[in-house]
Amino acid sequence: MPDLVRIKHSTAPAPIRLGLYLFDLAAYEVLYRFSPARNLRFFNGGYLPLAPDIVPCPAIAGEEPNAMMYHLLLHSMVADLAPQPGSLVDVGCGQGGGLLYAHCLFPNARLAGTDRNGTVTRLAARNLSGVPGCRFVKGGGKDEIAFEDAAFDFVLSVGAPTYFGLTRFITEAARVCAPGGTIAFSGGYRQGDHAAIEAELRSAAAAEGLGFHRYANITPHTFAALETDIPRRREKLARVPWPFRAYGWKWADMPGSTEYDEYATGKRADFAAVLTKP
Ligand SMILES: C[S@@+](CC[C@H](N)C(=O)[O-])C[C@H]1O[C@@H](n2cnc3c(N)ncnc32)[C@H](O)[C@@H]1O
Repeated sequence: MPDLVRIKHSTAPAPIRLGLYLFDLAAYEVLYRFSPARNLRFFNGGYLPLAPDIVPCPAIAGEEPNAMMYHLLLHSMVADLAPQPGSLVDVGCGQGGGLLYAHCLFPNARLAGTDRNGTVTRLAARNLSGVPGCRFVKGGGKDEIAFEDAAFDFVLSVGAPTYFGLTRFITEAARVCAPGGTIAFSGGYRQGDHAAIEAELRSAAAAEGLGFHRYANITPHTFAALETDIPRRREKLARVPWPFRAYGWKWADMPGSTEYDEYATGKRADFAAVLTKP
């Protein structure tokens, strides 16, 4: 996936950075409006192997490696906290697959999703139309989570925190998380450094008065999912229109791209973390 934070903070001149940022927004719009991704429930790279206790969930059938990114945050990494959230938000919810899986795990939780892309929040609302009370809000224009303070027991995010910037994401997640709640999220950096990522998360958590529950290097698992998924990605990318196909090849971390090489040579840093609010 592209790393917008690197674009935002790169040393390139401002007009180039703005151009890349706008191109990225447009690419997501094309992706969610026209590409085969609109027929999927997730837009993350996946995690393998599957956990033996992944919960059967017919609504996401066929996309279990992608649902694993959510199983990790909603179950594996928080098992000792035994969360039973009454309310849960997915920040950067994409097509809503994470919330479909959350509904299978916590059928009584009140669910909400937000994404900066309005096309995908509408898509997610359709995909979740069978889940009573689930609401979606387009948001994130100012790197804010589009909900009120202390609104949720569980704040969840897969793939979006790096777009906010990790420190900014934690400030916002702490704001919308209710006392006693859990914040669980994942992301990835190209040319990343786990020690630096964990240090930033610890420092931001401490500044917000949050507990630091767990950090995990998940790169071996995301790379395993990528390797397994290459034939399917190749077939889907063949249908993406020019000029987005070449960009899509990089987005999909396909062999031959710098992004794939970074995975293969250990320069990629994918992580997952759990924080708690006292
Ligand atoms: C890699 S996709 C992950 C989608 C979904 N979480 C999943 O795993 O299937 C990242 C998502 O974050 C959204 N996003 C990026 N920046 C955001 C922000 N500041 N606020 C809300 N959503 C954002 C993008 O529009 C995109 O849908």
